[in-house]
This record gives sequence, structure tokens and C-alpha cells, in this order.
Amino acid sequence: MEYSEKVKKHFLNPSNLGKIEAEGLGQGEELVTGEVGNPACGDLMKIYVRIKNNKIIGCKVETFGCAAAIACSSVTTELAIGKTIEEAKELTRERIVQELDGLPPLKLHCSNLAVDALKKALENYEKGINVIKK
Ligand code: FES
Repeated sequence: MEYSEKVKKHFLNPSNLGKIEAEGLGQGEELVTGEVGNPACGDLMKIYVRIKNNKIIGCKVETFGCAAAIACSSVTTELAIGKTIEEAKELTRERIVQELDGLPPLKLHCSNLAVDALKKALENYEKGINVIKK
């Protein structure tokens, strides 16, 4: 399977892998998480979003997914950081795939995980689920 150079770069050197610990939150910051599974392959992803004044100031993922899913999670966190909640909600799977210069057709479903986890986290945030405040 042929991956683009960008996929390889993000897979070999992914940004923002890991978790955000609640203990590290500063005053006025909030942490929310979102978790999704991919029914197509059984892979999992958990995203941690750090928010201050309606802006995403940090974002990390723990992923049990394939190379494409890891590359997508790397790009998703990079694009999410610095955005307001509303702007981050606009992120789409297509945008992530575009940012990676495409994915092989068989791997397109892998782009769902990170964006869906981000959307889930933002949905949780609005509902007050899984939110830790400092
Ligand atoms: Fe499961 Fe890629 S094969 S996310």
C-alpha cells in the first residue's frame, strides 16, 4: 500500500501522542475527553482536549490504531490546537485526508477515528460530560 510522504512523516513522527493529565491544568482551564471505536476494524482512539476561554490550547490522543489512524490523529491535533470550539467543530474527515495529501482508498475509514473522537469530546464538553475544571 502506497502512502503519501505526509502520511509517512506523521506516522513516523506523530504530534501530540499521549494523554493530558488533569493535574497539569492551569487556572481557568478545562479538560474534556472523547473516545470512539472504529466498527470497521475494531481500532480505538481517545482524545484529550484542553480548553481555555472557549479556545483549544492543547490536544493529545491515545490511539490503538493503524499507521493511517496515527497519521490522522497527528494532523487532527495539530489542526485543532488554536481553534475555538466552534471552529474545531467544522473540522471534517475530508479536511484531514486533504492535509495528508490523500489516503489509499482502503484506508479512508481510518480518518474517521480522530475527527470523530474530537467531535465526541466537543459534544461531551457542551453536555458537561467528562469535563474537569480547574
Ligand atoms: Fe483501523 Fe486504520 S485499520 S483505523
